[in-house]
Amino acid sequence: MTDRYAVIGNPIGHSKSPLIHGTFAKSTGQDLEYIAIEGPLDGFTAAVAAFRTGGGYGMNVTAPFKLQAFELATDRLPRAQLARAANCLKFECDRILADNFDGVGLVNDIERNLGATLAGKRVLLMGAGGAARGALLPFLEQHPAGLVIVNRTVAKAYALAAEVDANDGVVGCGYQDLGDQRFDIVVNATSASLKGELPPISPGVFGDNALAYELVYGKGLTPFLRLARNAGVKRLADGVGMLVEQAAEAFTWWRGVRPDTRAMIDKLTVPLV
Ligand code: ATR
Repeated sequence: MTDRYAVIGNPIGHSKSPLIHGTFAKSTGQDLEYIAIEGPLDGFTAAVAAFRTGGGYGMNVTAPFKLQAFELATDRLPRAQLARAANCLKFECDRILADNFDGVGLVNDIERNLGATLAGKRVLLMGAGGAARGALLPFLEQHPAGLVIVNRTVAKAYALAAEVDANDGVVGCGYQDLGDQRFDIVVNATSASLKGELPPISPGVFGDNALAYELVYGKGLTPFLRLARNAGVKRLADGVGMLVEQAAEAFTWWRGVRPDTRAMIDKLTVPLV
């Protein structure tokens, strides 16, 4: 019988996951079916249970259910624990395993696809919500020289920085506290671009040959990327590579086979103009 997988979210019509996983399955010769499920806002647990009962092997989870997926799990892997959110579930007998591949997908995109290295670099992580949380541990695993979390609500930046080992060199602050610090990699993990907004970031934060990375994907030049470009930054990226790389991590976790990501990233890329 064909193995069944799904992505669950609400809304879900925009999801690229069925296309990505369907293409991965073909390219790796895996016999699986992958569908999109619009989970009722008050019925996430029941929707997951119904999918499991129907023979589901695993699910990707997107907004607004990542926290509920984490709560529902019987086994939470470390990256999901720090993110306090899950974007991927695997069903094994009576267990529900939860992981979060958003951060590792981001790291893989930065290092493998964009050719940048995090090790020894100064990293600025904008935002202290779920997306920033998901990126933090995978970033620190690469041993940057320093990592600053900057957030509009400063207390959340302090709180997130305090959750990791003091020796990791992580500092939380507000935008006005950045002073004249410059960074090699600046990641916009806020949701500002979804609303067409620009966090109060100075164009002076970009160091020589900096990479400006926007987690939002498919929107072309967002206000943040436009600011970076106007500041002379040559290396601009949006989150399309992260999207495909996190899917590849999930696929590998479920199937034990790693799909190639390049062609899918090229297919989904919207030019940054
Ligand atoms: P997500 O899961 O996408 O991270 P979230 O948990 O709601 O969503 O977090 C959104 C993040 O974007 C927060 O860090 C938020 O800052 P606050 O904690 O101060 O709310 C940040 N954010 C959203 N809009 C912003 C804006 N216009 N300028 C700066 N930061 C913004």
